[in-house]
Amino acid sequence: MIVPGSPEMISQLEAVFDLEPSAAMFKATAKQYARTDRVIPESEWMKRAPYVRAINMLKKEKDAVILAHNYMTPDIFHGVADIVGDSLQLAIEATRVKQSTIIQGGVHFMAETSKILSPEKTVIIPDSRAGCSLAESITAADIAKMRAKYPGAAVVSYVNTTAEVKAASDICCTSSNAVDIINAQEGDLVIMTPDGHLAQNVAKQTDKKIVYWEGACEVHIEFKADELREYRKYEPDAVIIAHPECPTDVVDEADFSGSTAGMINYVRENKPEKVLLITECSMGSNIADEVPEVNFLGPCNLCPHMQRITLEKILWSLHTGNEEVIVEEALAAKARLAVQRMIDLK
Ligand code: 13P
Ligand code: SF4
Repeated sequence: MIVPGSPEMISQLEAVFDLEPSAAMFKATAKQYARTDRVIPESEWMKRAPYVRAINMLKKEKDAVILAHNYMTPDIFHGVADIVGDSLQLAIEATRVKQSTIIQGGVHFMAETSKILSPEKTVIIPDSRAGCSLAESITAADIAKMRAKYPGAAVVSYVNTTAEVKAASDICCTSSNAVDIINAQEGDLVIMTPDGHLAQNVAKQTDKKIVYWEGACEVHIEFKADELREYRKYEPDAVIIAHPECPTDVVDEADFSGSTAGMINYVRENKPEKVLLITECSMGSNIADEVPEVNFLGPCNLCPHMQRITLEKILWSLHTGNEEVIVEEALAAKARLAVQRMIDLK
């Protein structure tokens, strides 16, 4: 089997598609390039244009839709994605799309969520190795242990979990609706998994008592409150926006905290002259063209899992149908209950 991203994959693609950079290819993708020319140099787009063109032609032929998370790189986000959004928006869109195939621009738990919500569709992830430190931090057996320790407490699990963990939970949440979901649970005590930092940030905004699993996002725990204080010293007018997967002292230092869509909307609506997006690096690049008056200052960290998804692998997945995401139906039905309860409460 050919490994996604390998030289064999590229040579097989080159044998089937016209992937030679040319002025004609550049012109054919000018509309997409105009949305990202502030962050991708022309010489670089020249190489990506043939892939953008091939993907956009092939997805129509294959009746496929590309759902892309806000952390996808700008060539994917602006070049080939049909629908972009945060985890909640993508989950909702997965229930609405008309096409028979979903190509998931994102990590494995996102593709699994799409499959759980749209079992009749073919869901494909361009690289199944695109994992998530949060999803890998907890199992269904861990949920059972927490239930035994805190009998009667509802289990709210972040969508950044496997289908098994969703199936063992009462309801899911995302970073955009976590406070509302926690508040909607019966009883004073709620179990929240697997992100300990998100749980502690939510705990500050609710009267419920939250007990949590100590998982962490490997990207957001790298941000330090000291680092933000240093930036404030040198850039006192800069607005700091942090994702709630960051540690509480980092979020406390920020002027605003929200999901990836919440962060984008804040920048769109407020157009701060200088901004620090304390999250994955691709976010700033994806909105740079839309808000040319905003200067994006550092720091940012890359998610190695999100970065596994590339234009080349998307073309390969459309061409070969690999790798299809399968969730056994009995498990999917249980997991669907937890995700659907979240969507219904939105
Ligand atoms: P949201 O898009 O829901 O804010 O999620 C962030 C994230 O880390 C997804 O992997
Ligand atoms: Fe997981 Fe963090 Fe990467 Fe999102 S950014 S996929 S939470 S490791």
